[in-house]
Amino acid sequence: MRRVLLGLFGLTVLVIAALTVILFREVNGSAIAAVDATKIASTPEQIERGEYLARIGNCAGCHTARGGEAYAGGGAVDTPFGTVYATNLTPDASVGIGNWSTESFYRAMHEGRSQDGRLLYPAFPYPHFSLTTRDDTDAIFSFLVHRVKPVSQRNTEHTLAFPYNNRYALAAWRILYFKPSPFQADSARSAQWNRGSYLVQGLAHCGACHSTRNALGAPIAGHTYDGAMMPLNDWYAPSLTDKREASVADWPIEHIARWLKDGTSPSGAALGPMAEIVFQSTQYATHADLTAMSDYLKSLTVTSNDRATPTPTTGTINEAGKRIYKDRCASCHGDEGKGKSDAFPALAGNRTVLMANPTNLISLILKGGFAPATAGNPRPHGMPPFYHLLTDTDIANVASFVRSSWGNAAPALTELDMVKYRNALETVR
Ligand code: HEC
Ligand code: HEC
Ligand code: HEC
Repeated sequence: MRRVLLGLFGLTVLVIAALTVILFREVNGSAIAAVDATKIASTPEQIERGEYLARIGNCAGCHTARGGEAYAGGGAVDTPFGTVYATNLTPDASVGIGNWSTESFYRAMHEGRSQDGRLLYPAFPYPHFSLTTRDDTDAIFSFLVHRVKPVSQRNTEHTLAFPYNNRYALAAWRILYFKPSPFQADSARSAQWNRGSYLVQGLAHCGACHSTRNALGAPIAGHTYDGAMMPLNDWYAPSLTDKREASVADWPIEHIARWLKDGTSPSGAALGPMAEIVFQSTQYATHADLTAMSDYLKSLTVTSNDRATPTPTTGTINEAGKRIYKDRCASCHGDEGKGKSDAFPALAGNRTVLMANPTNLISLILKGGFAPATAGNPRPHGMPPFYHLLTDTDIANVASFVRSSWGNAAPALTELDMVKYRNALETVR
């Protein structure tokens, strides 16, 4: 018995020692030699393609601070564990990537490791960018170093809570949840579908918002595109596989492509963070790439997630809500909730209205919003905010009214839902 215990003890010590070595190796990666990046040869075609791909990856969306210089860093990325600030990607040699090589750039995108060997936080969506080919990362790099103006703006320190600010914790996270993986084409599918799969899963990182995560912020196997709350709990990125949420399985391919390009359609507008993505990224994608992405999105297996859909309240009209709707909403969305063409979305049959998770409906009424300005919708109409005009009770009433009118049949919203919404915001502030 003692010998067994001793043996177990020895084994445990060995395992701990091995894990320490693995963690130590993971934390202390090697640096890649500095070069003058601006001297690396490239062609105008490559720079152009790089600019295009940077748009698909929305690099500027995070790497530009509000009102700051393009790509100079400082954009805040909120996570449930604190704020991570995107870095300076301009060709400045001291703080930017002016002394990086194409190899160090590929390693950052593919492996999430900086030029000096330091591990990077996955708030930088490298778990997705890992799929990007060397050819494509070289093109993005040549765009950044040859087109973008160098700016010597210092990087902002991350404000992560313990233990997430610890590099060993990050190393452990990576060992558990991240493996650099090149894109795997599916030979049974068409070239178009594979192009869509490459972009949606990789550079366009749609799953960064739309996939359920575990308590440590890592994707969960089998829950890809399953829908997830945004880190501040103010928006919900709906499931791309559930027809009651954001699945596009029933939309014609041209309709999906047009939605990603214009940000509006008779079936719904792009709101909040999604409006941002259309505005900064997908509106610039070529017709061929949008068609490819749509082909892939349409093919996602439709699942019915197990989020409870309580039985709707039928028969009763929320009279208070009806009055508020008439005063505050009908001028744009119409007496019958039919909206007006692409300018004002129809609320009858609208998934934002009907979804079991009411977060987006509440956020939109409180904050209002603008559809993204795009070539197909150059001067989008806006919806005014109502946080200063309507009480929580009013919002619950008007939301209940739209959820149960004109053929809509979703459960009423209660004041308890409003309390839950506000408490969820509190927990991360
Ligand atoms: C969702 C926000 C987000 C997007 C989109 C994004 N990044 Fe970042 N990126 C970050 C954050 C945050 C960091 C800092 C990570 C860290 O310091 O650990 C970062 C770091 C990097 C780094 C490492 C820089 C260094 O000094 O080590 C590179 C390279 C980079 N990003 C390139 C890109 C490119 C290229 C794109 C577009 C294809 C892109 N990023 C899109 C958030 C983003
Ligand atoms: C001045 C016109 C205007 C008024 C008034 C207005 N809306 Fe809107 N509404 C819009 C526009 C424009 C959009 C698209 C916004 C976007 O894309 O961000 C929108 C979007 C919506 C959506 C999301 C639809 C979708 O496709 O996802 C809902 C739900 C909604 N409004 C409900 C209401 C309610 C409830 C009221 C009254 C409390 C209201 N709206 C008042 C113009 C208006
Ligand atoms: C920054 C987070 C974020 C990213 C990245 C993102 N989405 Fe979204 N998406 C959202 C949120 C939040 C909503 C809900 C608001 C709305 O309905 O527009 C949404 C809504 C949608 C919808 C619902 C459309 C409807 O009207 O029913 C589709 C489809 C969609 N996204 C597809 C995509 C695709 C494709 C990508 C990648 C190109 C993507 N999203 C990337 C956050 C994101």
